[in-house]
Amino acid sequence: MSQATFFNLQSDGASIVVYLSTGTPVVLHWGASLGQGFNEQDFINATREAVPHGDLDDYQNPGVWRENARGFLGRPALLGHRAGLDWSQKFEVVEVSATENSLFVRSADEQAGLELTVKFEFASGGVLKISQSVKNTGAGDFSLDALTTFMPLPDYAAETMDFTGRWVKERQPQRRPIQVGTWAREGREGRSGHDYTIVQLAMTAGAGYQQGEVWSLGLQWSGNTRHLIEKMATGRTTMAAGELLQPGEVILAAGETYEAPVVIAAHSEVGIDGITDRHYRWLRSRPNHPSTVRPRPLSLNVWEAVYFDHNLEKLTALADVAQEIGVERFVLDDGWFGSRRDDKSGLGDWIVSKDAWPDGLKPLIDVVKARGMEFGLWFEGEMVNPDSDVYRAHPEWIFQVGNRIPPFGRLQQVLDITHPGAFEHVLGQVDAILCEYEIDYIKWDHNRTLTEAAHFGKAAVREQTKAIYRLFDELKRRHPGLEIESCASGGGRIDLGMVEHADRFWTSDCNDALERQYIQRYTQFAIPPEMLGSHIGPHHAHTTFRTHELAFRAVTALFGHAGLEWDLTQTTDEERAALKGWAAYYKQNRALLHGGRMVRVEQPDDSAFVHGVVSHDKSRAIFALATLRSTPSITPNAMRFEGLDAAATYRVRLVEPAGAGITIGRQNPIWMTGVELTGAALAKVGLRPPVLAPENAILVELDRI
Ligand code: DGJ
Repeated sequence: MSQATFFNLQSDGASIVVYLSTGTPVVLHWGASLGQGFNEQDFINATREAVPHGDLDDYQNPGVWRENARGFLGRPALLGHRAGLDWSQKFEVVEVSATENSLFVRSADEQAGLELTVKFEFASGGVLKISQSVKNTGAGDFSLDALTTFMPLPDYAAETMDFTGRWVKERQPQRRPIQVGTWAREGREGRSGHDYTIVQLAMTAGAGYQQGEVWSLGLQWSGNTRHLIEKMATGRTTMAAGELLQPGEVILAAGETYEAPVVIAAHSEVGIDGITDRHYRWLRSRPNHPSTVRPRPLSLNVWEAVYFDHNLEKLTALADVAQEIGVERFVLDDGWFGSRRDDKSGLGDWIVSKDAWPDGLKPLIDVVKARGMEFGLWFEGEMVNPDSDVYRAHPEWIFQVGNRIPPFGRLQQVLDITHPGAFEHVLGQVDAILCEYEIDYIKWDHNRTLTEAAHFGKAAVREQTKAIYRLFDELKRRHPGLEIESCASGGGRIDLGMVEHADRFWTSDCNDALERQYIQRYTQFAIPPEMLGSHIGPHHAHTTFRTHELAFRAVTALFGHAGLEWDLTQTTDEERAALKGWAAYYKQNRALLHGGRMVRVEQPDDSAFVHGVVSHDKSRAIFALATLRSTPSITPNAMRFEGLDAAATYRVRLVEPAGAGITIGRQNPIWMTGVELTGAALAKVGLRPPVLAPENAILVELDRI
């Protein structure tokens, strides 16, 4: 090869340095841009390890594929075999092509009959997309166990963060020091899951929202996943992400290729907010990004208002109030189809129920449209109740191994949509509804985990995941402008794969504003607020039985794709007036809320969150202070503001789009009637907040003068 072997790709302050001369691509650096002015050979020499005693005699660098044949003793990127052979490979580079912001490498092991490719490509926002593939160029089948993307971390990366969670408490962070060994987060639910690590973070010690260096990897995949942080006895640390394959799930016949899900790598020198900013800028640069296409409509979902009790009169009354408040989208949830009068039957029969809707959905849709709102409808196409026409006709369409029926989840089984008949059934019935009625939006649920997800005995999560992507894409192709919300018992299918096929995520079934403060904060690490449904629920949250004032619920719901999920017919005149004001505020400010930079301000204790959105030109910002519990101090900590222009002066205003937060002090601070301060003063000194009751919030607007 007489071509370049050293590549220093840079974009937006991030870089990756790749060297090929050991016959394999080696990532010498991933992180902040290093500029251009260094001597390549000196860089290579500087990064070359010493040769210790008690190890191999010469320097080895296993590169991105980490083959055992190159002396590597950790987990290789490629795991698999050909009936027990070809499990160990040594890939040599056979093709390289590069552009200013991308590098493609193809390597082959002729003896093993395998080829690997990797492509590094910078996308908008300085996000690095990494694609890998493996091709079986040999004779006979190759059983693939894993093709994982590993990225090196510097020795000073000291901590890691990933996420856990459950139904109504999704994505709670967990942080730990990086120590020798492998820390693995595996998802085997067949969907990303409530505990899914949308991005895994590695950080310098004590890194926070605004400071420290942070590296992240996320996977563009909604099936089974594996995220790893590995520190070896050699002292070197890597982080990795890849699809988790079940035994036999991918067997490559001669000539076949496996494309691994794309890995999204981001780096920040300005803390976790920098990672968030890169994700948002990348996602928002896509031409079909929901808030680029059009402003996110204020929604009403009627689930918590009526549950299965569908009734035109009641829903008309709801639509009347929704119209009065300024709602723009009305969503009919579960219960409109088949024999689905409760969750015991009917799932899988996507035909309007004569029982619930004797004249079809038209009368309701007419009511909604006449009130100037879009209409949305609920589906759960990958599931069936055994008590359904589809299951009675095709019991063979559910996932199972042999004759063993998997355990039930919400009284349902999983429809195997990798089965062409099942796929066509769902596509056909959903399409027919979308053709018959004027439906602008569908909410697509997924209420059980996949266990023994097998197509005629063979593991099939991968194919099922590809099938749902295909189904969504086909529905959108047939119905231009259709929007899809991805829901899975709340936020069980939110990931960087689904962002390419859905327009909105149902963040959580928990509409309790306190829980939502946490759930939204951590989901927003990688997913922008305009894609995250956040609704004002009733005073008494249905999932926690906590009670919250409207102001707290309203401020919380503002930082997302806002909506309502509440029996509005039960609201008082005062509440309706407040909701009207809040709806108008959301509409006036959604361009900023859905387009600006997300900022989270570190707090000295865990009694409050301060977060906000700052316009990219720093001329305007909206911040919230949410109290999560009683303050340990008599008066609360300062509300500080990051991300502003330090030299500029801002007009600071308290805004109360849905009424005032509950204060429990004798006197409120004077600034609450208005104040003007520089960005520097707002960052370093801030404002002394009122003594707010726990589980309350205030909203502050800042405009550069
Ligand atoms: C679970 C979802 O998360 C809810 O929002 C609702 O759509 C129900 N399913 C309906 O069964």
